[in-house]
Amino acid sequence: MKRILTGIQPSGVLHWGNYFGAMRSMFALQAKGEDIFMFIANFHAMTTIRDGAALRASTRDVALDYLACGLDPEKSRIYRQSDVPEVQELAWYLSCLAPMGLLERCHSYKDKMAHGFDATHGLFAYPVLMAADILIMNADLVPVGKDQKQHLEVTRDLAQKFNNAYGEIFTLPDAYIPDSVAVIPGLDGQKMSKSYHNTIEIFEEAGSLKKKVMSIKTDSTPMEEPKEPEGNSIYELYKLFATPEEVAEMAAKFRAGGYGYGHAKKELLAAVHRLFDPFREKRDALAKDPDALEDILREGAKKARAAAAPVMEKVRAAVGL
Ligand code: ADP
Ligand code: TRP
Repeated sequence: MKRILTGIQPSGVLHWGNYFGAMRSMFALQAKGEDIFMFIANFHAMTTIRDGAALRASTRDVALDYLACGLDPEKSRIYRQSDVPEVQELAWYLSCLAPMGLLERCHSYKDKMAHGFDATHGLFAYPVLMAADILIMNADLVPVGKDQKQHLEVTRDLAQKFNNAYGEIFTLPDAYIPDSVAVIPGLDGQKMSKSYHNTIEIFEEAGSLKKKVMSIKTDSTPMEEPKEPEGNSIYELYKLFATPEEVAEMAAKFRAGGYGYGHAKKELLAAVHRLFDPFREKRDALAKDPDALEDILREGAKKARAAAAPVMEKVRAAVGL
């Protein structure tokens, strides 16, 4: 069985693009019985968040979001990065092999500089810490967005350098970027992204959800006229939430004419409630019991540390400690 590992930074509220673009495929792997490690990258988030209370709260929120949307702690391991302190240790060993030039070429660092972030060592060393997260768990597959592909290349590179210097210890991981995942459109029709301020959150409050759905950009074809559904945002979004039969029905109504975008938006809204309302109920219940959440995260960390222990033993022996 392949080991799957992914990390998510606790920065920002999760939106439909995150759910359909990333979370859902992970839950599908979980349903197939795959061996999944999922962690909240709170060390990584410190490169941009400098408020302890905010970091603590957003770490908790991401855990609640994932658990509410389908991450099953009985089947998968969910943990906080900081509860596995060995990743910091491994990051140092990898740092001692990481060429400056390799890190200087990383787009994410250059991007952050271009956006006016302070040039800190943490930001620069970010990919080395990410490599440690992955290699310490001997992961085979790492589900990530396209923007993280280069970090996976750095990880493989560092694993190879380490193996060349000290013997075959690390598995070379592959990025897992399913082609089938569509780009989810946002309110304005561009890719939904928190940087474009066009998102609809998974846990959007009912009133604001309705307002946002009703404001999704459409063309101005009059209600009476037949319309081609393919490519229009409402229909594309409906496909994510509705059954194939419901989707076929909506397509037929658009093509027949006499069916406007306002009607389609109402149907979309109902389908959104149907899928996400149970998640919201689950989230509310989990949020009421902080001790239970803490237990889940601690238990996940215990399992993650147990998986990391034999790797770290080999690593320490190999490097001469
Ligand atoms: P954002 O663009 O809002 O900053 P992130 O880059 O944090 O989102 O994305 C986290 C995950 O969600 C990534 O795996 C990314 O591929 C996926 N994702 C985000 N937005 C979309 C979208 N509009 N369509 C498909 N997948 C998305
Ligand atoms: N860099 C990733 C992101 O911003 C988060 C991350 C940190 C991660 N460590 C990881 C993802 C290890 C996968 C594996 O999305």
